[in-house]
Amino acid sequence: MSTPALDDAEPRVDDDVFRHVVGHFASGVAVVTTTVDGVAFGTTVSAVSSLSMDPPMMLVCLNRSSHTHDQVQRAQRFAINVLSAEQTELAFRFAKKSDDKFAGVAVEEVLGVPTLEGALARIVCSVDEEATGGTHTVFLGRVLDARASSAQPLTYYRGAFGSFHSEAEEHAYLTVRRWVLEHRELRGDSIDLDLVAGALELSRETLGRAIAKLAVDRLVTVEPGNRILILPITAELMRDCVEGRAAIECGVLTTQMSALTDDVAREIRDIYSRMQQLRSVPGAMREFLDLNTMLQDRITGLAGSLELTRAFNRMGIGAVWSHTVPVEAWDEFFDGTSQGNLVAALERRDVEAACRAVQAHAAATTTLVRELLQSNGGSV
Ligand SMILES: Cc1cc2nc3c(=O)[nH]c(=O)nc-3n(C[C@H](O)[C@H](O)[C@H](O)COP(=O)(O)O)c2cc1C
Repeated sequence: MSTPALDDAEPRVDDDVFRHVVGHFASGVAVVTTTVDGVAFGTTVSAVSSLSMDPPMMLVCLNRSSHTHDQVQRAQRFAINVLSAEQTELAFRFAKKSDDKFAGVAVEEVLGVPTLEGALARIVCSVDEEATGGTHTVFLGRVLDARASSAQPLTYYRGAFGSFHSEAEEHAYLTVRRWVLEHRELRGDSIDLDLVAGALELSRETLGRAIAKLAVDRLVTVEPGNRILILPITAELMRDCVEGRAAIECGVLTTQMSALTDDVAREIRDIYSRMQQLRSVPGAMREFLDLNTMLQDRITGLAGSLELTRAFNRMGIGAVWSHTVPVEAWDEFFDGTSQGNLVAALERRDVEAACRAVQAHAAATTTLVRELLQSNGGSV
């Protein structure tokens, strides 16, 4: 089977355009391995797909200029080693031509084919058919053996390696985070992770990944014996978070002010006005803080990056307010001056004034938190 000759009358996409456009298809990354006369060969690939369930088949596309291509043709057997997010080094290593790609790499032989230990998944195939497509050979492989582990995948998108972000994982992380922040009475206690998994109906694996992120957030530490320690929220932690958020906000305002439409500016003004109206309402602090989050989301949202908005939100520890500010007269604790200045600066598209207001708000918040925590024994 081979590619039919091109009809000159047909339109043809520009090479650079094609390269750029196909790069928008996000994929996983694998290393195709094989062996001939006891020597192992391998190449990094992204052109991999499952082909059929019955019989189970895979396909890989290898450039005919690839050394591994020739060896797969000879061996008629190969393995697809799907890489995990921790295996970027292997992806680089097998994407270069070299005689010692396997030096120091842990290999497990499966059905006579070397497979990479620690890969996210491995699929061993025997070549059923070969087809030619342009510069490549498409190897259609019948699956002889398949195994997967539970790590996170390595991804490839627009010429760069990355990792997969799952909405379910984010949701689990936020659920555990809320639980940790709401159970301040447990701070300093060593808690069995199985109890948390049971209370939140999460699998141990998902919980483990959420806990790892919370350890980075400095909200918990992981202890031996499947336990965690809920850490106190201190003035230092809060200062770092507040300053981090201000840096993100200023960065967005400095680079993305042109993305602020009149509609969004009006919406921000409206949110701010609603916040001011709540000030005289006893017990409305939660609603006030939710509106504040909404206002800040509108600002970070100007960058159009979900990741950035998430990072920003992760640095928000609203639990401090609910544990330190009295329910009545709560509004006395929140001075709206700098936020008022920020909203006005946004309406004028004045980047410098907006950043000054953000920094002033951050400084006032840090001082307030320190005072509140001091009067609550230093931490919550
Ligand atoms: C992310 C990524 C994906 C790649 N995908 C493929 C592919 O699907 N097919 C292919 O033939 N080469 C692919 N390559 C290029 C080969 O890895 C590269 O040409 C390698 O040097 C070939 O090694 P070899 O000649 O030892 O087989 C890819 C490279 C990278 C970095």
